[in-house]
Amino acid sequence: MDFLLNSFDTTDLVVVTIIGAIGLYFFFKYQSEPAAKMPTGMVPVQQNTTESKTDTSFVSRMIAEKRQVLILFGSQTGTAEEVAGRLAKDLVRYGKKALVMDPEEIEADDFEKITKIENPLLILCVATYGEGDPTDNAQALYEHVTNNEIDLTGVKYAVFALGNKTYEHFNAVGKVFDSRLEELGATRVYEIGLGDDDANLEEDFMRWREGFLPSLAATFGWELSNDGSSDRQYRLEIVEDPAAAVFKGEYGRIGAFEKQRPPFDQKNPFLSKVVAHSELHTPASERNCKHIEFSLEGSHIRYEAGDHLAVFPTNDSTLVERLGKLIDIDLSVVFKLINTDEESSKRHPFPCPCSYQTALTHYVDICAPVKSHVLKALVEYTTDEEQKKTLTLLSSASEEGLHKYSQFVGKERRSIVDILEYFDTCKPPIDYLLELLPRLQARYYSISSSPKKDSTNVSITAVLTKYNIGDRLIKGVCTNYLNGLSVGSPSPIFVRKSTMRLPHRTITPIICIGPGTGLAPFRGFLQEKAWQKAQGKEIGDIVLFFGCRTPEKDYIYQNELEQYKSDGIITDLHLAFSRYTDKKVYVQDLLWENRERVFDLIQNKNANIYVCGDARNMARDVQNTFLKMFVELGGVEADAAQTQFKQLERMRRYQADVWS
Ligand SMILES: Cc1cc2nc3c(=O)[nH]c(=O)nc-3n(C[C@H](O)[C@H](O)[C@H](O)COP(=O)(O)OP(=O)(O)OC[C@H]3O[C@@H](n4cnc5c(N)ncnc54)[C@H](O)[C@@H]3O)c2cc1C
Ligand SMILES: NC(=O)c1ccc[n+]([C@@H]2O[C@H](COP(=O)([O-])OP(=O)(O)OC[C@H]3O[C@@H](n4cnc5c(N)ncnc54)[C@H](OP(=O)(O)O)[C@@H]3O)[C@@H](O)[C@H]2O)c1
Ligand SMILES: Cc1cc2nc3c(=O)[nH]c(=O)nc-3n(C[C@H](O)[C@H](O)[C@H](O)COP(=O)(O)O)c2cc1C
Repeated sequence: MDFLLNSFDTTDLVVVTIIGAIGLYFFFKYQSEPAAKMPTGMVPVQQNTTESKTDTSFVSRMIAEKRQVLILFGSQTGTAEEVAGRLAKDLVRYGKKALVMDPEEIEADDFEKITKIENPLLILCVATYGEGDPTDNAQALYEHVTNNEIDLTGVKYAVFALGNKTYEHFNAVGKVFDSRLEELGATRVYEIGLGDDDANLEEDFMRWREGFLPSLAATFGWELSNDGSSDRQYRLEIVEDPAAAVFKGEYGRIGAFEKQRPPFDQKNPFLSKVVAHSELHTPASERNCKHIEFSLEGSHIRYEAGDHLAVFPTNDSTLVERLGKLIDIDLSVVFKLINTDEESSKRHPFPCPCSYQTALTHYVDICAPVKSHVLKALVEYTTDEEQKKTLTLLSSASEEGLHKYSQFVGKERRSIVDILEYFDTCKPPIDYLLELLPRLQARYYSISSSPKKDSTNVSITAVLTKYNIGDRLIKGVCTNYLNGLSVGSPSPIFVRKSTMRLPHRTITPIICIGPGTGLAPFRGFLQEKAWQKAQGKEIGDIVLFFGCRTPEKDYIYQNELEQYKSDGIITDLHLAFSRYTDKKVYVQDLLWENRERVFDLIQNKNANIYVCGDARNMARDVQNTFLKMFVELGGVEADAAQTQFKQLERMRRYQADVWS
C-alpha cells in the first residue's frame, strides 16, 4: 500500500512547511497569550472571584508559607481542578497546607525549582483530551517535562489521571507524566490513579484516595489531626448594602455584559444574541434537534469551519426555586464567600458578591450527579438517624458504599435537588452547599457554519438531552437552556479553536463521516467548499456518509444536503438509516460497501478523512472499518494497516472530532 508515499509532492511539502511554520508561530503565540488581555489604555475593573495572583515564583511562595505540597491540575472542564481541591482539603486533616495551582500560573522553566523545597511532594491531577493531548492549561508544563532533561531528584510525586476509556488514548497524559517524572529522578510515592469518566470517575477517585492518603501519611510520617468532615474553605459574608455592585451572571467583571470588551474567551464570554432558532427534526420525531445561530456582530470574534462554540448555560429556574424551597432560603439575599486561607490565590469560589438566586442559576452545577464528599458533608445537617446512616454509607469508600453510590447516584443520576428531596431531613446551610457544588461549565458544540458564507453569525446543531430514569425526567442543562432560547435571546458564548481543518488545497478530496449531530462541522465544510467553488476554485470530491434513524424523523439539513448533491458540491452522498428497514444500517456499513471508491481516493488522490460524533461506539467502528479496508484492498497484514492508520493520523489526513 503506497498511499502514504504518494501523499505529498514537492509543492505540497513546501506549502505544508510554510503553513506549519506559520501555524506553529501562531499556535505558540496563542498559547502564550494570557486568556483575556486588556486592550491598551483600558483600566481593568477588578471584581472577580476566582481571580488569581499570577505567581511565577511558586517556590518562594511555598517556602514563605511553609507549604511542602504542590498540587497541579490539568483541567478543561473543571473535574481535575475539583479533585485537586478535594485532595488539598484532605491534606488539611494531616495538618498540611497544600498549594493548589493551575500550571499555567507557573513558568514552566521554574518547575524544577520545586527541588528547593524541603522534602517536596508533587501531586498531579491531569485530564487527557484529543489524541492523548494535555489540557490547554497543562500544555506548557507537559512539553517542558517531556522535552527537557531536568533533574527532579528528591521530589516525591503521585498522579491521578482523568480520562475516559471510550477514547483511544486512555489517560495518556497522566501516564506520560507518571513515567516521565520517574525518569527525571523523582520518586513515585503511590501508583497512578486512572479515573474513567465513562464508568464512574468519582468511584475511581474514591478508591485511589482511600489507598493514597494512608500511604502518604506512612511515607512522610504524618498523623491525622481531625476527620475533616466540617472543614470549611470559605466563610459567608452577607452584603446588606442595597447599593453594592453585584454580579448578575457575568463571569469576569461586574457589568461585563453591558460594556463588552474583546477579546472574548472562557473568562470573558461574549453576550451574543440568537438570530435564528429552528427545529431540525420533523414533528414525527420523539426527539428535538435545534439549529441555532448566534450573532457575532461587534465582537471581533473570528472562527473557522471545524471550530467549537462554547455556550454558558443557566440552570432551569424551576430547579433553582425547588432547591431554594428545600433548604428554606430567601433567594434574593446578596452574599460573598471568602476563602479562609488568606494566602490562597482563589479568593472566591465563583463571582461574588451575588444573590443566592444568581449563584444557583449561573455559577454552580445543581444537576450533575452529586459527588461523594458532598454527601459526606450533608450527614451533619441531617436529623433522621436512618437517613444519616444511608448518607454515611453512600459517601464511604467501603465496597458496599461504593457499590451503593455507583447505583444510587451514578447510574440513577441523582443531583443535589434529588438528594435533598430524598433525604428530607437534610437541611444544609446554603453557603456550605455553594462551597461544595462544582462550577457550572460551558458546553462545547461543533460549529455548523462557515465564516466564508457569513462571518457575522455562527451556528450550532444541538440534539436535546432528555431521558427518564424511573419516573424522574432528566433534562440536559445546556440543551434544555438552548431549547428555551428564541430569536433575540442573549447568550454568553466564545469560540474554541479546534484542530479539525479542511485540507489547504481545495482540490484535495474529503471523506466526511458524521452520523446524527456529527454532521455539524461538515455543514460548515460544505458551506466553505461551495464558497470556494463560487470563487472559481476547483474543488475536490466530497464523499459524505450521514446516518440517522429514519428519513421521516431525523434526517437533519436534508434539503441543504440534497441541494449540495445536485449542485455537484457533494459528489457522493451515502445515507445510513438505522431504523428504517428491518436491517440496521450504519455509516460504517456504507463505508464498507463503498470501500473501493473510498480507498481509491485515499490511495491515489490523497483524500483527507474526517469523523465526527459519537466517541463511544461509532468512532471505533468506523476506524475498524478503515483498518479492514486497508487490509483487504491494500494487501497488508493487520499490524501494518494499524501503522499506516497511525501515520494517516499523524499527517492529519485522518481527523476525528468525537465526544461521548
Ligand atoms: C468537542 C465537543 C463537540 C460537541 N459537539 C456537539 C454538537 O455539535 N451537537 C451536540 O448536540 N452536542 C455536542 N457535544 C455535546 C455537548 O457538549 C453536550 O455534552 C451535550 O449537549 C449535553 O449537554 P447538556 O448540558 O444538555 O447535558 P448535561 O446536563 O451535561 O447531561 C449530559 C449527561 O447526561 C448523560 N446522559 C445523556 N443521555 C443519557 C441517557 N439516555 N441516560 C443516562 N444518561 C444520559 C450523559 O452521559 C452526560 O453525562 C459536543 C461535545 C464536545 C466535547
Ligand atoms: N454527553 C451527552 O449528553 C450527549 C448528548 C447528545 C449526544 N451525545 C453523543 O453524541 C452522539 C450523536 O448524538 P445524536 O443524537 O446526534 O446521534 P443519534 O441520533 O443518537 O445517532 C445517529 C445515528 O447513529 C447511529 N448509531 C448508533 N450507534 C452507532 C455506531 N456504533 N456506529 C455508527 N452509527 C451508530 C444511530 O442508530 P441507532 O440509534 O438506531 O442505533 C443513528 O442512526 C451520540 O451517539 C451520543 O453518544 C452525547
Ligand atoms: C472532546 C473530549 C476528548 C477527550 N479525549 C480523551 C482522550 O483522548 N483520552 C482520555 O482518556 N479521555 C478523554 N476525554 C475524557 C476527559 O479527559 C475526562 O472527561 C476528564 O474527566 C475531563 O477532566 P476535566 O473536567 O478536568 O477537563 C475526552 C473528553 C472530551 C470531552
